Amino acid sequence: MKEKMARPFSMFSSSLLLHAMIICTMLSQSQGDNEFVRQPFRPIIHTPHHRSEAEPQQVHISLVGKEHVRVSWVTEKHAESVVEYGMASGKYTEKATGEHSSYQFFFYRSGRIHHVVIGPLKPSTAYFYRCSASGPEFSFKTPPDSLPIEFVVVGDLGQTEWTASTLKHVDSRDYDVFVLPGDLSYADTQQPLWDSFGRLVEPYASQRPWMVTQGNHEIESFPIIFPDGFRAYNSRWRMPYEESSSTSNLYYSFEVAGTHILMLGSYTHFDVDSDQYKWLRADLAKIERRRTPWVIAIVHAPWYNTNDAHQGEGESMRQAMEELLYKARVDLVFAGHVHAYERFTRIYDNEADSCGPMYVTIGDGGNREGLALTFKNPRSPLSLYREPSFGHGRLRIVNETHAHWAWHRNNDSDAFMADNLWIHSLSTTKSCWESSSVPHDEL
Ligand SMILES: [Fe+2]
Repeated sequence: MKEKMARPFSMFSSSLLLHAMIICTMLSQSQGDNEFVRQPFRPIIHTPHHRSEAEPQQVHISLVGKEHVRVSWVTEKHAESVVEYGMASGKYTEKATGEHSSYQFFFYRSGRIHHVVIGPLKPSTAYFYRCSASGPEFSFKTPPDSLPIEFVVVGDLGQTEWTASTLKHVDSRDYDVFVLPGDLSYADTQQPLWDSFGRLVEPYASQRPWMVTQGNHEIESFPIIFPDGFRAYNSRWRMPYEESSSTSNLYYSFEVAGTHILMLGSYTHFDVDSDQYKWLRADLAKIERRRTPWVIAIVHAPWYNTNDAHQGEGESMRQAMEELLYKARVDLVFAGHVHAYERFTRIYDNEADSCGPMYVTIGDGGNREGLALTFKNPRSPLSLYREPSFGHGRLRIVNETHAHWAWHRNNDSDAFMADNLWIHSLSTTKSCWESSSVPHDEL
């Protein structure tokens, strides 16, 4: 493991008072490049369990291949791993069974964590469902099977009042798939906070697929007892890794509506001899740009970052994997970890390159650690917009050539886009393929 894995036990020790004092001190300084009243720290929300012990809680869904969805939930007592579902409320014409497990973390024993894959499902269709044959009815909408599609992207979510604000803003306008570049609950070994987080996000994650990758706050390793870490994360947030021939829940890819998304693992091995590197190289080689003209990569620790926070933490992964992404003409790379918003130009190897990915840091979901308030000056010409405010991003891929990216601050009205631009897909930029060593399927 890399040096980055040394952090997981440092997060929960600082007191809220000390944290608030640091934030207040930093707020008095001049920050970022855009004039804006900075958002102060807000407290953690503990979301209680209001249902009976056998009733489902923490319900969330994720995509499994093109026609299936995995439904995940927790019960405190024995309950069947079964999902009943259908296209009309209360009329469940289909039924699927799955599996359940639980895990131990020191003196904490998790509830029964259920995972059931349902389908085949129709695209762009509303389904109603019930878990364990009890509790409330939920519903979700499947994503479209062709463009356009809209992704919400937001990292470092946590479970504070800012998190609630971010989710409320996200929910104010329709979208298809939620993509989370790591750092979910900020439980940081306090396992009941994983349950609280699951309950906080349930109203949103039960309605749209949530596709996540890990951040440093998911590690939760402990020498000898839990050396590999990720016990809660892998148990609760199971992603469709087998479907993309990955052998680990910590990295995988999925395809939806003309888009191939690489969910990479910043906190598992990524060097050229690693399983992740070999998997990535093979996965990139399988992409058919005619079918999925857009290719997006998600990491946690940013490869490009002009914030004072977390400088250099993504550098070893960048050095290992950047060339693979560049040669495959990946369009966009989203990262979290830094609690601010920053958008870069297209880059390869620290230089502007019209055939490289556009890099965006969007670790501003609302976690308890507050914002990363200071950026390096003078500003690098590669960094085009940067601001420490909570918010979320929306990527609307309109067709095979054009997508619209917008960043929304939580303090603004839902219609306001603090930063937005149109992006052109590299799949149809022929000049970028003449110099690429990766075969292009004759677009
Ligand atoms: Fe992080």
